[in-house]
Amino acid sequence: MARNYRQLIKIFAMEKSTTKKSAAKKSAGRASKTTSEMSPALHQLFVDELKDIYWAEKHLIKALPKMQKAATSKELQNAFADHLEATQQHVERLEQVFEMLEEKAAAKKCDAMEGLVKEGESIIEDTEGGTSTRDAGLIIAAQKVEHYEIATYGGLHQLAITMGHDDVASVLEETLNEEKETDQLLTSIAENNVNYEANKEG
Ligand SMILES: [Fe+2]
Ligand SMILES: [Fe+2]
Repeated sequence: MARNYRQLIKIFAMEKSTTKKSAAKKSAGRASKTTSEMSPALHQLFVDELKDIYWAEKHLIKALPKMQKAATSKELQNAFADHLEATQQHVERLEQVFEMLEEKAAAKKCDAMEGLVKEGESIIEDTEGGTSTRDAGLIIAAQKVEHYEIATYGGLHQLAITMGHDDVASVLEETLNEEKETDQLLTSIAENNVNYEANKEG
């Protein structure tokens, strides 16, 4: 069963690389496509999704210092501090993307991010300060946020490629890679220390 799953992934990866090659060939032809030839509905969806993640990133700028303050492990505090700086850059990159698309940078409330941040606040309320148990909870809450961002930027990056906005796609890809790195860093903080320490607490 496990082997079948791995085989499927392998086949999918092979197909993807073939599709990438032919997509690169096709995109040369697509580059000449003018804005007026693009689907207006898809363009609208793309811009709306950008507004959603723009709100989400700005909301995170307010939440991350609270998570940093609530964390006990120095490593985790530093991870939140570093990600705050990265998040400020994510906001700037989105503003750059709006400019590239000649659209006004506007934020549209993201209910999902509001909920994920609330979950993080409940973890702080429900756990004791100075414990690794709270840190373990904060890591889970932060990883839920990262996975939401990875899904969003992953989807927007693919859409930008399809729509022929290669310049926009590479800006979004930079942020996508940073979200993935943060997710991996959080996993290693949990695995290397925090979860083990939390398991020793009463
Ligand atoms: Fe971000
Ligand atoms: Fe993030």
